Amino acid sequence: MKAPQGRDVAYFDGLSAYLQGGIEQVEGWIEPISAVYIAYLSLEQVRLGLVGDVAEIGVHHGRLFLLLANAITSSETAHAIDVFDDQEKNIDQSGHGNRQVFERNVRHFAPTANVNIIQESSLDLDKTGFTDREIRMFSIDGGHTAAITRNDLQVAEKCLVDGGIVVLDDVLNPHWLGVVSGLADYLRTGGTLVPFAVSPNKVYLTSNIDHAEKYRGVMATAFPLSQEKVNIEFFGSCVDYYGYHPYYEPNGGTGVRRQRDDLQREVESLKASLAEANKRLTEN
Ligand SMILES: C[S@@+](CC[C@H](N)C(=O)[O-])C[C@H]1O[C@@H](n2cnc3c(N)ncnc32)[C@H](O)[C@@H]1O
Repeated sequence: MKAPQGRDVAYFDGLSAYLQGGIEQVEGWIEPISAVYIAYLSLEQVRLGLVGDVAEIGVHHGRLFLLLANAITSSETAHAIDVFDDQEKNIDQSGHGNRQVFERNVRHFAPTANVNIIQESSLDLDKTGFTDREIRMFSIDGGHTAAITRNDLQVAEKCLVDGGIVVLDDVLNPHWLGVVSGLADYLRTGGTLVPFAVSPNKVYLTSNIDHAEKYRGVMATAFPLSQEKVNIEFFGSCVDYYGYHPYYEPNGGTGVRRQRDDLQREVESLKASLAEANKRLTEN
């Protein structure tokens, strides 16, 4: 396991606070329970020693992005991609980015994170240099047409590190059927990402079948109470569905406290790893 650095550990202090209170103050669309799943998977990647940036296409005011930005280490960057005020490029009017509001939210809820803002349509990312970055957690929630979804999945596949995760929004939302159409197009035309889980409004994919099986195990161990159905056929892969459960809800009575405690335990475990690594260094 790659030992986290001191500053890295400090970064996660803001994560549980954002999940419990901050997220409700930021306008946007993520279901709180899915925010918990994404936060957990991101911390698990760090614990497994995975290194890479995080990114979101379609940040709107930052509701999900700020969670990602609170779950990175000091050597990593959170990339925010949105057309923002160039709304003529938002061809299907999915959300409405606002750079001023977004930047204010970043200052307030993720003040220490390395944040790189790219004001561009995801269809034109090649000219920004972004596609040379290595990403471990990639949320796709920009344009919801089939063509844009397929493009965004191809961008994510290109940037994803081995074991990275892509979180795709609105796949099963009847208002935005372009997304499932784009996912089908992507997989039919040689897309290599492998779906492994579904949660309210999100589908999770990773770089290959081995990692898909590993993450299915991670989710099963971490969230047994909300695992509603397993081994669901989905575009030739097998996925598990994680739904709502008060124990894991960040805003659900005792769940708030317990989830905070769970996340705090994650932080404590990372701190213990750091202390252990420092001890070994001093001894040698
Ligand atoms: C549904 S909202 C995103 C919600 C956000 N992820 C959250 O956590 O609340 C969609 C966003 O995608 C942006 N967008 C639409 N088309 C885009 C494109 N082609 N490239 C980049 N961003 C786009 C919109 O400006 C809007 O901010």
